[in-house]
Amino acid sequence: MQQVSPMATRYDGPTIWFHWAVACLVLVQWLLAQVIDWFPLGMPRIEARSVHISLGLFLGVLLLARGVWRATRGRVLLPADRGALQILAKAVHYTLYVLLIAMVAVGLFLVWVRGDSFFGLFTVPAFDPGNKALRHNIEELHGTIATIILILAGLHAAASLIHHYLWHDNVLRRMLPSSN
Ligand code: HEM
Ligand code: HEM
Repeated sequence: MQQVSPMATRYDGPTIWFHWAVACLVLVQWLLAQVIDWFPLGMPRIEARSVHISLGLFLGVLLLARGVWRATRGRVLLPADRGALQILAKAVHYTLYVLLIAMVAVGLFLVWVRGDSFFGLFTVPAFDPGNKALRHNIEELHGTIATIILILAGLHAAASLIHHYLWHDNVLRRMLPSSN
């Protein structure tokens, strides 16, 4: 059962840790994806792509653990906004979760469609080899979801900064690690 804690002034430690770990991973994944093609063809590029795939899998595990924690012992605080803003904030949070899960699912399918090698240790047998259109479409989809996540997370971060610097409330602080 979720534990609603109106009196608590901040999220619990694991929730805060999950939030910032996921946010950093998304950023690292996006940056890494931009430079994979800078690596020479062959093992260097396979290794760079394999790091992206490994961190992507780790992101999937983190999301799962975050979901279990939130549904069981994680602290759920009262909404930071009221009315339409509250609905908007909730919609953005849930959309981010859905897009992150989609990102991992499409990423896994992309590995399968491309028939990628994993650090040269083994190669995933390609789904429908030679189907260039499918490969192109899945790559586009993966890239598009990444762009939408970045835009939405950027707006979400901006909203939390507005809370902090313009409205001077506790919303950002309750998601920051405690200094004591
Ligand atoms: C939030 C997490 C992720 C972000 C932000 C991200 C971002 C990206 C971006 C922007 C690209 C370039 C797409 C394009 O060329 O249009 C890419 C490529 C790719 N991604 Fe991800 N990705 C994530 C997670 C994953 C996961 C979970 C997997 C698989 C388990 C994965 C596997 C791949 C592969 C195989 C490529 C192709 C790399 C290449 O072109 O050599 N990604 N990713
Ligand atoms: C890719 C980056 C990010 C993602 C995917 C993300 C995702 C989320 C999600 C899903 C929640 C809802 C938590 C829950 O109730 O389960 C949340 C809450 C929050 N996020 Fe982020 N976030 C990101 C980056 C940021 C950044 C950069 C900031 C600040 C500058 C930030 C500040 C906050 C705050 C303050 C909350 C708590 C809001 C409240 O209590 O209502 N987030 N984030």
